[in-house]
Amino acid sequence: MVRRIFAIGFPLLILGGCVLNTGEWHPADRVKNISESYPLPDSLRNPSPFARSQMTLGQKLFFDPRLSADGSISCASCHKPQFAFGDSVALSQGRGGYSTQRNTPPLFNLFRQKRFFRDGGVARLSEVALSSMNEVHELNLPIDTLVRRLRTIPEYVRAFEQVYNRLPDPFTVTQALMRYQLSLLSASSRYDRFRYNNDTTALNPAAIRGMQLFFSNATHCRSCHNGPDFSDGLFHRNGMPELGRPDTGRARISMDWADYARFRTPSLRNLSFTAPYMHDGRYKTILEVLKHYNRALPNHITNNLTSDLPRTERILSSAELQDLAAFLEHLNDSIFVQTPANPNL
Ligand code: HEC
Ligand code: HEC
Repeated sequence: MVRRIFAIGFPLLILGGCVLNTGEWHPADRVKNISESYPLPDSLRNPSPFARSQMTLGQKLFFDPRLSADGSISCASCHKPQFAFGDSVALSQGRGGYSTQRNTPPLFNLFRQKRFFRDGGVARLSEVALSSMNEVHELNLPIDTLVRRLRTIPEYVRAFEQVYNRLPDPFTVTQALMRYQLSLLSASSRYDRFRYNNDTTALNPAAIRGMQLFFSNATHCRSCHNGPDFSDGLFHRNGMPELGRPDTGRARISMDWADYARFRTPSLRNLSFTAPYMHDGRYKTILEVLKHYNRALPNHITNNLTSDLPRTERILSSAELQDLAAFLEHLNDSIFVQTPANPNL
């Protein structure tokens, strides 16, 4: 039903649909690529028609530069679909040559995330958008101004009335954006075929050796990168030396000195699309990251910062690092990044 409204408001959508061959593609369709055994809440496995219509509306907002003060950027300017809804640069470009303070995180499987931002500064997914809207160098369009603007755009007035039976307001705008972001599900990697579909051919021998290393006490990777998305959702110092501009990390929020330079453990899915790595994008390749751990794991202290890494007994050989890299490559979900780059056009 919502699709029809957009089709009236947006003849371009129909055109774009043909060019991209998206046909009846809907954000909720991503779930079709995901194994029945991968743990997902039923609200995402079988979203209701109401949830689906919110996702469509949220998708439209996510890609619309009218969400920024000067119409120059949208959420998708930094959270780019082809990079698993992250960015390919250390710091993203905001408005007027400004760059973000931290590396833009990729967005997927957000239903599992308990806190948002690399320091966990935001507790609810629906509230994350507000912070980008308020940020002068990002969207620079506080929610009340945005709502006033959306109310002057007939296609949005129609769409909000269709979905929520009311005009755009702060609640419905943030809800729609949240629903869309919850539809960004990614778990169709070769590893998932192996793990959830019992397809033993999905991993090659190097990846199997790498997986064994990953889950072994020779690396202890699993002590932080665990669970279905390879993250414990907690905050740790992973032994990185401080660079020029220190980042207080989790301590910014907890006000606890013990949390200085601790960051949320990121997922290890889709790494081939999300370089560069870490909160500041300091490492350009996976091999650089693995060499960092190879240095840091046997030692406990880097530049006076004790790390939370469990101590390991030995340094890995370069062949072992290659195997670990091969395993991580099998966590890429190439279907996820192929979804239409800008579904609004
Ligand atoms: C100028 C670039 C930029 C724009 C525009 C932008 N973001 Fe972000 N986004 C970031 C950065 C950088 C972070 C990480 C902030 C931090 O960790 O301190 C982030 C974090 C997030 C997170 C938390 C992800 C996580 O894993 O913790 C979500 C969700 C998010 N943004 C959604 C949005 C939405 C929705 C919009 C549009 C309303 C938006 N972003 C616009 C750069 C941007
Ligand atoms: C003590 C917990 C801990 C352990 C053990 C650990 N990591 Fe991490 N890892 C983290 C944290 C925290 C970050 C994010 C740091 C930041 O943002 O600056 C991270 C980041 C990464 C990244 C970059 C991801 C990205 O998107 O930027 C990769 C890749 C990675 N770890 C792989 C590994 C591997 C492989 C191992 C085992 C050799 C390992 N980690 C062991 C906590 C840990």
